Amino acid sequence: MTITVFVTGGAGYVGSHSAKAFANAGWNVVVYDNLSRGHRDLVKWGDLIEGDILDTDALTVALKRVKPDAVAHFAAFAYVAESMQQPEIYYRNNVRGTMSLLDAMVAAEVKQMVFSSSCATYGVSDELITEDTPQRPINPYGETKLICEKMIRDYGAAHGIRSVMLRYFNAGGCDPEGETGERHDPEPHVIPLAIKGAMDGTFTFNILGGDYDTPDGTCVRDYVHVSDLADAHWRALDYLNRGGETDVFNLGTGRGYSVMELADAVSRVAGKTVPRVIADRRPGDPPSLVASAAKAQRVLGWTPQRSDLDTILKTAWDWFQKETSRNL
Ligand SMILES: NC(=O)c1ccc[n+]([C@@H]2O[C@H](COP(=O)([O-])OP(=O)(O)OC[C@H]3O[C@@H](n4cnc5c(N)ncnc54)[C@H](O)[C@@H]3O)[C@@H](O)[C@H]2O)c1
Repeated sequence: MTITVFVTGGAGYVGSHSAKAFANAGWNVVVYDNLSRGHRDLVKWGDLIEGDILDTDALTVALKRVKPDAVAHFAAFAYVAESMQQPEIYYRNNVRGTMSLLDAMVAAEVKQMVFSSSCATYGVSDELITEDTPQRPINPYGETKLICEKMIRDYGAAHGIRSVMLRYFNAGGCDPEGETGERHDPEPHVIPLAIKGAMDGTFTFNILGGDYDTPDGTCVRDYVHVSDLADAHWRALDYLNRGGETDVFNLGTGRGYSVMELADAVSRVAGKTVPRVIADRRPGDPPSLVASAAKAQRVLGWTPQRSDLDTILKTAWDWFQKETSRNL
């Protein structure tokens, strides 16, 4: 029997890569996205239903018609700095949106879900972060993801929805075949900004804070290739399809790089120096976030294949070269 996955946010960065992974597994994909931050041309592996997750009636109609085996829920706002300035849009879109989706799933009797959670739920931790590390978010974005995790568990217990919550660390890189990639406007993410520095001689890469308690004073992050994240999503759905119980997994590599090391690595991969300056810290940024993904390896059999920093940066570099020529 062919599995059908209903992908909220499938026109975005992680969602489109995951849609490709689902389709490659032979599954039917239906994307549900309001295109507020996604792109029609990145929906290539299934039909697009244009709709808002806040619209519970439209979602219910769509779910009853599609009758998916599972929902993969990516749709959200996901920028830390924006969440500090406009928490209301984060609580509305992420928390209310997820509640609306859960209500629609209950009405349409959809019983499995994979949820995009985040390392931002942990807050400050100077140790390797396991799933048991206390979750104490320090920005509204992380707070909304933590509330969603709790809501998904509570709805699940009451209504028989089994779920996997995947706490990604920093997604990076783009589809190695160049079929989809990262496109945000404005772009807040560190890898595209460092690449912009190497590509555009007039752009200076701002390193946000040089006085953190880290080896070189800049923030340390655990970068994981987006195609490896996509792979984890089909493994999570496969786990649920085989009867797996609700669970949570970190997705990272166990190795952190500072933003300064990242800028050096982009210079190396691009063969061009990234002009950079140390700017003020950004409120809401923890000094260091590095995952232990031992549990995902043990239970889901997930091992990152493309998450060495050079592969992440090379695939991103190739994508942004293509994007630049697309825009000329
Ligand atoms: N990119 C990362 O490093 C990262 C890390 C941890 C967690 N996450 C989570 O992964 C998910 C995907 O992130 P991304 O980087 O691909 O973001 P993205 O902005 O590229 O994609 C989000 C998609 O959701 C859609 N969307 C947003 N609100 C919607 C709504 N109300 N109704 C319908 N569609 C809506 C957008 O149009 C977009 O296509 C998010 O839930 C994010 O919190 C991302």
